[in-house]
Amino acid sequence: ARPIILDCDPGHDDAISLILALSSDQLNPLAVTTSAGNQTPDKTLNNALRILTLLNRSDIPVAGGAIKPLARELIIADNVHGETGLDGPKLPDPTFAPVSENAIELIAQKVRQSSEPVTLIPSGPLTNIALFLANYPELHSKIDRIVLMGGAAGVGNWTPAAEFNIFVDPEAADMVFKSGIAITMCGLDVTHQAQIMDEDIERIRQIQNPVAQCVAGLLDFFMIYHRDPKWGFTGAPLHDPCTIAWLLKPELFTSIECAVSVETKGEHTQGMTVVDRYQLSGQPANATVLFDIDRQGFVDLIVECLTAYNQ
Ligand code: BDR
Ligand code: CA
Repeated sequence: ARPIILDCDPGHDDAISLILALSSDQLNPLAVTTSAGNQTPDKTLNNALRILTLLNRSDIPVAGGAIKPLARELIIADNVHGETGLDGPKLPDPTFAPVSENAIELIAQKVRQSSEPVTLIPSGPLTNIALFLANYPELHSKIDRIVLMGGAAGVGNWTPAAEFNIFVDPEAADMVFKSGIAITMCGLDVTHQAQIMDEDIERIRQIQNPVAQCVAGLLDFFMIYHRDPKWGFTGAPLHDPCTIAWLLKPELFTSIECAVSVETKGEHTQGMTVVDRYQLSGQPANATVLFDIDRQGFVDLIVECLTAYNQ
């Protein structure tokens, strides 16, 4: 199985991403670390522990990371994810505690110990990943790839130009995109097509296990924010789970190798990912950028992963 580390800010779609990742024997989760983003760092850490408790996976080490972005104050998305960061379904209280290391130390420890190169899967602001890369240059060669949710080739969802995860910590994102490590970018271009519809949620609700029931509850809440007609959505975009879907079934996606840079100073464009879709800059590609998804195949994969929790 492919060794992975999930760095997340749960977050409804982060939680579902974790649930999908841990359902598959193709992936070997070495650690779960948390970033500050959708909610404050204490809450995202607690939410990761609650989800792993639900999954009976207290064997996976969990650590909290940086409490704020590298050079800015934290912005949270409680308008999307609620007061707890995972509003909606009833979740168990954590039955276990984080390890004594912080997220950056835990990532370093697990990467160092791994016999195979590790895939990092950030689904929140990139603060922890940037700090890990800056502090442990000797471990870069042991990272197979960074499969991240963030950015957009087109318009933003937090400002007209920027996607939330990149906007929260553009300096960190800049360091990650400049790192030279292979990157898969699941940006809004693809995640806005990865919509889950009401009928898909009903299909999930028919899966009779507590994990699927929790996901249905998470999706009911996640729908609320996305029903605003301004978005033009029929359902809710499942951003973060695109990372796991790409790892499990890359054939569901189309992608283009692109040069991607992060705007850290723009007057109107702070936190924008500038994606050289047509190779106009002459810069070498630094990311595999996902553009399209087979939505029905994506939903079928989610159902398959959730059904795996029946046994
Ligand atoms: C990203 O922002 C967060 O609210 C979601 O969890 C996702 O990672 C989408 O812009
Ligand atoms: Ca997230």
